Amino acid sequence: MSERTPKTVLITGASSGIGRALAIELARRGAHVMASARREAELRALCDEITASGGKASFIVCDVSDPDAAAEVVRKSERDLGSLDMVISNAGLGGSTHASRLDVASVARMIDVNVRGAIVPLIAAIPIMLGQKHGQLVGVSSLANKRALPTSSVYNATKAAFSTFLEGLRMDLDPSGITVTDVQPGFVATDMTARNKFKMPLLWSAEKAARVVCDRLERAPRIIAFPRPMDWLTSATRFMPYWLLSRLGRRLAGNR
Ligand SMILES: NC(=O)c1ccc[n+]([C@@H]2O[C@H](COP(=O)([O-])OP(=O)(O)OC[C@H]3O[C@@H](n4cnc5c(N)ncnc54)[C@H](OP(=O)(O)O)[C@@H]3O)[C@@H](O)[C@H]2O)c1
Repeated sequence: MSERTPKTVLITGASSGIGRALAIELARRGAHVMASARREAELRALCDEITASGGKASFIVCDVSDPDAAAEVVRKSERDLGSLDMVISNAGLGGSTHASRLDVASVARMIDVNVRGAIVPLIAAIPIMLGQKHGQLVGVSSLANKRALPTSSVYNATKAAFSTFLEGLRMDLDPSGITVTDVQPGFVATDMTARNKFKMPLLWSAEKAARVVCDRLERAPRIIAFPRPMDWLTSATRFMPYWLLSRLGRRLAGNR
């Protein structure tokens, strides 16, 4: 176990995809992982897999869109694990819908999970980490946080909101020694992206993404963005005129 590997970690959205791969990778590196999500059977299978290979893992079922439950998961994790060195707020919903088919209930649901449900676990961890005088707060946002794309207005908006929140959190917490990292993946092969009908350039496996994130988290950087060419490309879109971005975006989304 590297000195920089956290001993205790809570991961939300650990039942599949990137969160699951992060749980396995961090446990392999020696952390005791508290895995959380809504699907109990998947969490139980994950913990069995980790313990069978000699690691330490426990789970708590929680829907992060319930703010009281999301905050309680953090407090229970600290009680059960004895400390909380890292919280990875990763749970999220994807999905693309043309503006003409957006409905209020599913828009509200995505905001509840991707914004409130992402922010609350990190906020709830702050008093614990201030008491410990150390801790790493990690949010899984997206490279899609920079500009909107056709059919993704709500998802893009939630990730922009989350990244902005993480930046402000870091400004407030820098002097305290609590670090804040904004993880910004490009395309990663998970249940979320399996539904995409468009081409996904530079698609990474969840395992590769987890390895890279865990390696870089050892230095607690402000941002972990990958793959590098997608980071450059999405950063360049900040300077792209609207007409060009919307034309390229429509082509990527299959001219919907
Ligand atoms: N895959 C990509 O290309 C990509 C790119 C950029 C960013 N991301 C971000 O990476 C994160 C993980 O996504 P993924 O790609 O790994 O997708 P995924 O396999 O669908 O995983 C999503 C996770 O979030 C959990 N979740 C969803 N709603 C929840 C809720 N209300 N309460 C608690 N947990 C909930 C799911 O568990 P349950 O269903 O069991 O609750 C699942 O564990 C998301 O924040 C996503 O936006 C993904």
